[in-house]
Amino acid sequence: MSGDHLLEDSTALSTARTGGASTIRIALIRGDGIGPELMNSALEVLHAVANRFDLVLALTDEQGGAATYAEHGEPLLPGALERLRSDYDAILKAPVGLPGVRRPDGTEGGLLGGVLRTGLQTYANIRPIRLLHGVRTPVTHPPGSIDYVLVRENTEGLYLSRGIGIVTESAACDQLLVTRDGCERVARAAFRIAQQRSGAPLDGVRRVTCVDKSNVLRTFAFFRAVVESVAPEFPDVELDYRYADAAAHDLVADPGHFDVVLTENFLGDVLSDLGAATVGGLGMCGSGNIGDRAAYFEPIHGTAPAIAGQGLANPTSQILSAAYLLRHLGLEEPARRVESAVENAYADGEIVLLPSGQPKGGTRSVTAAVVTRI
Ligand code: IPM
Ligand code: MN
Repeated sequence: MSGDHLLEDSTALSTARTGGASTIRIALIRGDGIGPELMNSALEVLHAVANRFDLVLALTDEQGGAATYAEHGEPLLPGALERLRSDYDAILKAPVGLPGVRRPDGTEGGLLGGVLRTGLQTYANIRPIRLLHGVRTPVTHPPGSIDYVLVRENTEGLYLSRGIGIVTESAACDQLLVTRDGCERVARAAFRIAQQRSGAPLDGVRRVTCVDKSNVLRTFAFFRAVVESVAPEFPDVELDYRYADAAAHDLVADPGHFDVVLTENFLGDVLSDLGAATVGGLGMCGSGNIGDRAAYFEPIHGTAPAIAGQGLANPTSQILSAAYLLRHLGLEEPARRVESAVENAYADGEIVLLPSGQPKGGTRSVTAAVVTRI
């Protein structure tokens, strides 16, 4: 992911050194459903790359998710957020949550999105959408022609209403709130990512596309105006716009136009799954949740309870998330090694995705193909 060096004052690299010449302190949240098996796969890959590059991994489990909620009434144990904030160089998280584990208000109890994204102030959710060679996709665009980074605002927007919406017998209301500071910081993150990339596949233009519904809602008109106001700080990056509905169309019909897509929290949640569908499914997509002081890395998808424990899931999303974590810590070469191993394994035809998006030969076959190439 070319998106993680977005922070001007990233302390990640220096803290990565504090445990010794090259010790990386990583917290692991193994999650629910397919989470633990995906994590095992990513850890095999991490161990292989650590071996290759003489890195020492200091791995610590932190509990979190549906199982934690079911047992303790909260998805994260007391003290965990503070540790996650200060004791680790980065966090690798598997999907959490189970549809059957609900709060009294009907929402899921095991989710950590609100707790971690707000608690760690990881305001930029960086979701690279890339079509690799050898990957089956429902669209006809060739590999190389879908390569953009979706930047989802991660701490406000509609999801700020999590847990505080109003419900009566006859109606329910959630509110969408955006702040100038919140919009500015994520907009700057998006422009910095565009500066580090080589432009949109179609025309090589470095471009941030602001996606909103400013034709209808004032919050989105505000979001767009703030994005517009920071754009002059980045004269080498073009700013353009799409209404969210048109973006949903164009991300399928004309994905080569997009370089960096900047959007509000809820819209980004929806559009990133749409993007995933164009590049082989959710199992292909990892992500980084990046703030000024903390970062965590996770697949963009859920826990797929229907196939949990069977070794069927595609772990590519978790493996790529681990690669993004390495890059965020300044470990560009190891990160690149993991990504190349993934790309080559697909391109060589050693990993084959079934129409379901699951890999032929199961989770193991993907892990083995990647580890061999490291
Ligand atoms: C995601 C997920 C989460 C979200 C859920 C599981 C809380 O869908 O990371 O995209 O909505 O943000
Ligand atoms: Mn989602």
